[in-house]
Amino acid sequence: MSVQTAVKRVTAPDIRARKNGEPIVMLTSYHAHTASLVDRYCDVILVGDSLGNVMHGFETTVPVTLDMMILQGHAVMRGSKHALVVVDMPFGSYEASKEQAFHSAARILKETHCGAVKLEGGKRMAETIAFLTQRGIPVMGHIGLTPQSINTLGSFRAQGRSEAAWAPIEEDAKAVAEAGAFAMVVEAVAEPLAKKITASIDVPTIGIGASSACDGQVLVLEDMLGLSPWTPKFVKRYGDLGPAIQEAIESYAKDVRSRAFPGPEHVYGMIKPKVVASND
Ligand code: KIV
Repeated sequence: MSVQTAVKRVTAPDIRARKNGEPIVMLTSYHAHTASLVDRYCDVILVGDSLGNVMHGFETTVPVTLDMMILQGHAVMRGSKHALVVVDMPFGSYEASKEQAFHSAARILKETHCGAVKLEGGKRMAETIAFLTQRGIPVMGHIGLTPQSINTLGSFRAQGRSEAAWAPIEEDAKAVAEAGAFAMVVEAVAEPLAKKITASIDVPTIGIGASSACDGQVLVLEDMLGLSPWTPKFVKRYGDLGPAIQEAIESYAKDVRSRAFPGPEHVYGMIKPKVVASND
């Protein structure tokens, strides 16, 4: 009998249990290849709708569709073995009703095999979060700056930078936690507020432009690798891959133009025909 040594994937309840524990490490990925790199070091891989900006060059995440998220979510599942894969619900796929949200989230789970979905919004989405979690769909919340609301917000600005603006954000965090989310992203929120929220709810907070006191951190992979055209204040660049990639492409173009590539080692020779011994 063969012993199976399958790697057990991190689950939403595993992440839920990390409140006040070892910080949760989360990065985005949209492809099988980067997913396999990220998977070695992260607890959670987020297939973020930021793929609209990063992969497709959209100015906002509003044009991203459910089909786009499912295609890339499935790719990330194929490329990873260990991390919990969370797929973003795109704008327009969940806001109309809790039933619409269930249908969209069920499609994501069935067609990608991921472990959870993420959706944006606080109090206004609490009923939907409860509806999904009660029906077997783990939900990661997302409060603070919610980029899908760009057309009503007007700009991507940090939230809660005066104490007078704290109450609605605190209420959002509480509502998402009470609705049953297993964790929540806290994006671009003043540091003392992110700290206060983290201390006041029993669900892990995952910060981006928030606070080191959050229960975990997330960044967009391309931002931290230096592959994005601009770097928001809250991103620490852990690499500067842009110039290295450009240099490699420049060398390739030069080699093709000078016929230095492909070299003899990159081309296929002929197979020598087998000499068949004759009895004559
Ligand atoms: O879409 C995304 O990548 C996100 C993160 C920035 C949290 O939602």
